[in-house]
Amino acid sequence: MSDRKIQVCEPFLNGNEEKYVMDAVSTGWISSSGSYVTRFEDTFAEYCGVKHGIAVCNGTVAIHLALTALGIGKGDEVIIPSFTMIATAFAVCYLGATPVFVDADKDTWNIDVTKIEEKITPKTKAIIPVHIFGNPCDMDPIVEIAKKHNLFIVEDAAEAHGATYKGRKVGSFSDIASFSFFANKNITTGEGGMCVTDDDQYDTLCRYYKNMCFDPKGPRNYLHNDIGYNYRMSNIHAAIGLAQTEKADEYKKMRMHNHDLYKKYLSDVEGVIFQKDEEESENVAWMNTIIIDPERYGRNKDELVSHLKENGIDTRLLFKSMSRQPSLQKYGCDCSGDYPVTDYLSDNGFYLPSASNLSEDDISMICDIIRNYRR
Ligand SMILES: Cc1ncc(COP(=O)(O)O)c(C=O)c1O
Repeated sequence: MSDRKIQVCEPFLNGNEEKYVMDAVSTGWISSSGSYVTRFEDTFAEYCGVKHGIAVCNGTVAIHLALTALGIGKGDEVIIPSFTMIATAFAVCYLGATPVFVDADKDTWNIDVTKIEEKITPKTKAIIPVHIFGNPCDMDPIVEIAKKHNLFIVEDAAEAHGATYKGRKVGSFSDIASFSFFANKNITTGEGGMCVTDDDQYDTLCRYYKNMCFDPKGPRNYLHNDIGYNYRMSNIHAAIGLAQTEKADEYKKMRMHNHDLYKKYLSDVEGVIFQKDEEESENVAWMNTIIIDPERYGRNKDELVSHLKENGIDTRLLFKSMSRQPSLQKYGCDCSGDYPVTDYLSDNGFYLPSASNLSEDDISMICDIIRNYRR
């Protein structure tokens, strides 16, 4: 047993974060009115290759705001992967709409594009592809299906800052895309999120709804024509976000390098399975996730997770299927189908430490523990 502790994912803040935050504080611009908000929005949107960025207070509300701006509401159905973080489903429920689940692809762990069309009904209004763990979804067929059935696309890119599909950044394939900047994300503001879009009208609508539906035209008359939200991001958070975005490519390289190292050091360990990257895409490896095949590894993932913990290595379990969520069952979602790939992933997988600044020695040590524990 070792004294050394390695956390699953600490934030990495090695740029202008402190300088910008101190500037925001010393000038008194700490609310959402400061200039860092606009600078962060513009810089991040440009990084994604889209026109507009709308900063909000977390990634969950970014999805809700996107769906709100697209007019999704009661009685509508929205297709989401069964293998995702609960926020994707909750954002749909906030609107009185119904999330409809599609199982994951067994290799890429993203939504299985071959199973989307069978879930489309006359009530379907949108698809939310989620770029799981930083691995871009196969967007060409998703865009094609959406066009054919006249559906909106909202990419949930919470985990995939800077990831590319066929040379284009994720976030640029949809009507509106959402990002999270939670502390463990490749780019963080502590808590935070953003909608990005190329469409001027959606930009206006997102800004309108995120700021209590104040009349955007005139002086504040305190008359509100629609139900709005306070989803604003503070200037302090945006100051961190701007500094992080300045280093986005550097952080992305670090995460991708660590991912390659994990794959290299574990390549000889039978029964350890990695996510397959889509053709012509860049997986930015938000989390280094492995699946343990108990037959071939000789132990199950729970045994390995406990063993790693005894050795000071922090890990996290994977999402449970949306179809198994008591909250969504109570809400009235159809949870009756089978989602075998999602169940397989949640039963057998977990995240390894994934911080951007993890050292090669740390990764090699973690992989040795995994290798030596195999039976
Ligand atoms: C796929 C996905 N969507 C949405 C979210 C929600 O983001 P936040 O925690 O910032 O609300 C997360 C958070 O990790 C996520 O992984």
